[in-house]
Amino acid sequence: MGTVRVLISKELIDQRVAQLARAIDAEYAGKDPVLVGVLKGSFVFLADLVRKLTIPVEIDFVRVSSYGARKQSPGKAKLVHGLGLPIKGRHVIVVEDIVDTGVTIRFVLDYITRRKPASLKLCTLFDKPSGRQVEVPVDYVGFAIPDAFAVGCGLDYDEKYRYLSDLCILEEP
Ligand code: IMP
Ligand code: MG
Repeated sequence: MGTVRVLISKELIDQRVAQLARAIDAEYAGKDPVLVGVLKGSFVFLADLVRKLTIPVEIDFVRVSSYGARKQSPGKAKLVHGLGLPIKGRHVIVVEDIVDTGVTIRFVLDYITRRKPASLKLCTLFDKPSGRQVEVPVDYVGFAIPDAFAVGCGLDYDEKYRYLSDLCILEEP
């Protein structure tokens, strides 16, 4: 394994996910929201989050591939796997691992908006605000983190490190 350094411990992440769950519980009581996870990275956060909610939810996933997203020009995203559930008229919460340039999540939000949900909000475990290239409204955020490459909690580098429970900074791949 390369060199990783813990940035946010699993205990802190666990506490923060519980707080986010309480906020969603309060805002979505009686609304039966649909949580849409963005694969692959969101699977850890989504699984932790739903087990801390006390309201009923339905769950679906989209899979998006992002490419070319880095410093100079905004990258592009493309849909690899779309929604299975009908979400027209439903309250939808998109659940993401991390928002960096915003290109990926903007694409997902636009895709979902076209299906006419009753409401649409974004919940991301991590946010790198300094990386933003396109504007996205982030309704629920676990942690804002600095502009470094993070792994763990579902985040990967070349498909590695997703399983790490702490959020780590990758110092050497
Ligand atoms: P975007 O730049 O906001 O479009 O983010 C694109 C995707 O890149 C995210 O959904 C993540 O899967 C991934 N990503 C962004 N920043 C990191 C990081 O620090 N570590 C691992 N994956 C990242
Ligand atoms: Mg992602």
